[in-house]
Formats: sequence, structure tokens, C-alpha cells
Amino acid sequence: MAPSSGKIIAIANQKGGVGKTTTAINLAAALAINGQQVLLIDADPQANATSGLGIDPGTSAQSIYQLLVDDTAAPADQVVPTQIERLALIPGHIDLVGAELELAGLEQREQRLKHALASLGTAYDVVLIDCSPSLGLITLNALVAADSVLVPVQCEYFALEGLGKLLNTIRIVQQGLNKALQVEGFLLTMYDSRLRLSNQVADEVRSHFESLVFQTMIPRNIKLSESPSYGLPVLLHDPESKGSLAYMALAQEVAAKLPAKA
Ligand SMILES: Nc1ncnc2c1ncn2[C@@H]1O[C@H](COP(=O)(O)OP(=O)(O)O)[C@@H](O)[C@H]1O
Ligand SMILES: [Mg+2]
Repeated sequence: MAPSSGKIIAIANQKGGVGKTTTAINLAAALAINGQQVLLIDADPQANATSGLGIDPGTSAQSIYQLLVDDTAAPADQVVPTQIERLALIPGHIDLVGAELELAGLEQREQRLKHALASLGTAYDVVLIDCSPSLGLITLNALVAADSVLVPVQCEYFALEGLGKLLNTIRIVQQGLNKALQVEGFLLTMYDSRLRLSNQVADEVRSHFESLVFQTMIPRNIKLSESPSYGLPVLLHDPESKGSLAYMALAQEVAAKLPAKA
């Protein structure tokens, strides 16, 4: 095996709107500000992580599409810098919808991302993959490439609904294509301490998944929802906001579990 490119964490939940992309952008930025070399991979055709970092997915020549389906393109050539020091991005692309189909006909179709990332070597301490709300072939590539999965869970009705399907997929991957895959943690998002429902959901998730739930909860915070329209992580848009502080705290938790730097 080639030396791994740091710890690879897939951010996944096939439920849409639970905070995957918000977490991908802001955890990536917080880890980079903390001093880690970070690569964020936008594996969603909607490419919200890309536009949220101020990069237009429609005009970027580099993208995960090339990374997955074009054998003539070097993976390192798909990496673009961002406005944040130490944070690099492999942009998303609308053509990813087609990539699902193109991948289906390729050899080792579940391992394409894993092999591409191996060729990036040891340039990064952490690689975060923002997955789409689907359990298709691209998300499968992410789960096969990853060391662990971070699962955002929205503090809302039916929070646990659908998690069974994701956990089942993780189990199947652990039984075959990626035996070492771990759960990084469940992250409670859009938490509102004033709402009984929010607290009920948080309690339920904690009693169900116990120590696998991050201590940090991400509060519902307007700064988090408006910062993508400025093309900035919340840490640059409003560093003092509750959203910023929460993602900095989450970054500490994630960093504490990274292997020590050589
Ligand atoms: N903690 C939060 N507080 C307020 N709004 C949030 C928060 N997290 C996410 N949002 C908003 O909720 C919507 C869905 O979040 P997003 O991260 O795109 O979810 P996903 O990637 O899972 O579909 C977006 O409009 C986002 O700005
Ligand atoms: Mg998303």
C-alpha cells in the first residue's frame, strides 16, 4: 500500500438537509485554522461545499469528476487552493450525476477514489469527503476510501429515521470492501436548547449511540446558514458566532483522535 494521505473522514447521511455540507466546510476550515493540512473533497453533484468556499463549480476545470472517471488526469491536478491557508479543495461537479453511470462500467468501480487518494501521498493530515444524500456508487467510493464516517444528525423529528439504512450500508462495507472502516461519531446539528424537541432528540441519540456521539453539539445559528452566500466558512464570516465556536470545538475533538504527527 502507498502511504495513506492522512486520516480520511466521510461525512455521510442519506437524509438531505441535516448539515453534512455545513459541517464539511466549517470543520475543514476549523481544522486548517488549528494547524492541520486539510483537503476537502466535494462528492455531491450539487457542489454546495464548492460554492460555499467561493469557488464556482460551473467554471472550475478541476473536479472530483475527473478524479473518478478520467484515468489520464493526475489526482493532484484536481486540487485547488481556497482562501483559507492549509485548506485545499477538490471541487464538485454537476457531471457527477453522469459519473454514477460511467463508474458502473469501470473496473474496480468502488475503489476509484481510494486509489486516487493513495496517489496523493502524505500531503494532508485530514481529508474530509462531503457526500451526497444518496447511497449510490460515489458515496460507496467515499466509504471505501475512508478511515471513518462522521454522521450529522439533525435535532428534528425523525432524526433517527433512515439512519438504519446508512448503518446497514456501513456494515456491508465493513464486511467486504473496507474492513477497517470506523464510525468517527454522530454529530448533533441545528440544536436549539430552548426547544424540548431538540433536547429530546439529543437525549435519544445519546442513549442510543452513547460514546459515539460527539460532546460538541452544533447550535442552530443564522451565521452558519448565511456564510455560504459570502463564499466563506463561518470562521471567516463571523469568527465570534456560536456556529464558529461550535465548529472550533468539534475540530478539537476530531484532532484529538488524529494519529500523532511523525
Ligand atoms: N447549525 C445550523 N444552523 C442554521 N442553519 C443550518 C445549520 N446547519 C445547516 N444549516 C442550513 O440548513 C440547510 C441544510 O444544510 P446542509 O449543510 O446543506 O445539509 P446537507 O448537506 O446535509 O444537505 C442549509 O441551508 C444550511 O445553511
Ligand atoms: Mg450537502
